[in-house]
Amino acid sequence: MTAPANRLLDRLIARVENSDRFDRIADAAADLAAKPLAFRPLRNVLSGTAGGHPLHPAMVLAPMGSWLAASYLDVLGGKTDSANSVAAQRLIAAGLVTAAPAALTGASDWSYTTGAERRVGFAHAVGNWLAIGLYAGSWSARRQGHLTTGKYLAAGGAALLGVTGWLGGHLAYARGVGVDTTAFQVAPDEWTEVIGAGDGNSVVNIADLVLDQPTLVHADGVPVMVVLIGGADERQLLALADRCTHRGGPLHEGSYEDGCIVCPWHESRFRVSDGQVLTGPATRSQPTYEARARYGAVQVRRTGETGSLRTNPVH
Ligand code: FES
Repeated sequence: MTAPANRLLDRLIARVENSDRFDRIADAAADLAAKPLAFRPLRNVLSGTAGGHPLHPAMVLAPMGSWLAASYLDVLGGKTDSANSVAAQRLIAAGLVTAAPAALTGASDWSYTTGAERRVGFAHAVGNWLAIGLYAGSWSARRQGHLTTGKYLAAGGAALLGVTGWLGGHLAYARGVGVDTTAFQVAPDEWTEVIGAGDGNSVVNIADLVLDQPTLVHADGVPVMVVLIGGADERQLLALADRCTHRGGPLHEGSYEDGCIVCPWHESRFRVSDGQVLTGPATRSQPTYEARARYGAVQVRRTGETGSLRTNPVH
């Protein structure tokens, strides 16, 4: 039973991912959602930059929990003015109020997606808005004394949330939206000479580097961004993972400003000395590497311990 169900879901999600029918509407909606995110403090809050993880998954707990509890009470039953019915109506109202921050944080995350991820996210959002409409109708019906109608509408909303929750799970677990893109990447823990991006064979020398200019190199196949900073008498060689933890933007194509590298894709800002994320939408800091020059050749090695997920790394 498991395999056919799995195959059916795979086919359904593939249809959503490959259909460009609603792309124009989805792109217009994403552009609209992205506009307020030009304001950096708002972008940081909605992305969850300060907390180190995307905020949306935490924000959905309040409406989902409220509505799920209302469903339990509906199943337990009671007349219009019974304690169960009154509590269920209040829980549905609480869900409607707390759905607002959940929707805002989700729209923020979604605005940075493209292609198949944007399509699935759009279906997820449309389904959620329909569910919100059903719960709003349920609350209104209950207020007017139509408890049975209210229960049916809430049941429809709960069923729809099951579908949209599955789509949200697909985005996170199958498509990796919100996942640190360097989570499975690792650089060597021994000092390793780095190779240039050009012919893929030449060792990079410190003399090849231009002051304050981020440069792409490879250490055992892992893309690393190195940058030479400082004054004439005190130069410092720094290295970060080149792949932006947010959505994988190439940091060496970003700009180096005031000790920070700005991602060229969505303008997350990372301090090059320690990889710390200072401005979102990224929520995870960049992995850092120790860097030095030996006999002119640039070498790097991983800093810190290997995380448990990195024991079978992807290069
Ligand atoms: S890829 Fe989005 S900020 Fe770097």
